[in-house]
Amino acid sequence: MKKQKIGFELSVYDRKEDLSQIEQKLLSEAEEARENAYAPYSNFKVGAAVLLENGEIVIGNNQENASYPSGLCAERVAIFQTGAKYPGVTIKSIAISATSNDYVVDKPAGPCGNCRQSIIEYEQKQKSPISLLLSGEKGQIFKCDSVADILPLAFSNSFLTDS
Ligand code: THU
Repeated sequence: MKKQKIGFELSVYDRKEDLSQIEQKLLSEAEEARENAYAPYSNFKVGAAVLLENGEIVIGNNQENASYPSGLCAERVAIFQTGAKYPGVTIKSIAISATSNDYVVDKPAGPCGNCRQSIIEYEQKQKSPISLLLSGEKGQIFKCDSVADILPLAFSNSFLTDS
């Protein structure tokens, strides 16, 4: 038996202004989107903005339901809309921003496990990394260079055949 360390480098930004222009714009789109979230049950509003290689930005926000499991996270609303509207166009980056009606979200919100799995499907399909910008409404901003960084040992379609 041997132990193997796996890990990744996280970029940490103290201020939004330290991001590149396009990253700032993407994050602003996520912040704007989160304000339109439909989250009457959790009061926790999330916005996501997907940047494509053609320069288009696709947004999403969480959509809740009185039957709780029927709702959907912001990231999946955004990534599925991207797949529907721009099939085959390479995804460069996704910005995520979270706020709450009840308290100040002062740390970056990472995507839930289901969203990580949903996003990595596209990363595997396009064979190029999708970077993630994670933020709250204030405080630090985290950047991951690839979804694979935050979903180690991910399941993929390679397991569905023996080739
Ligand atoms: N939520 C997201 O939109 N994205 C995540 O990655 C985590 C959680 C939403 C789902 C639900 O509407 C609310 O936040 C509270 O869990």
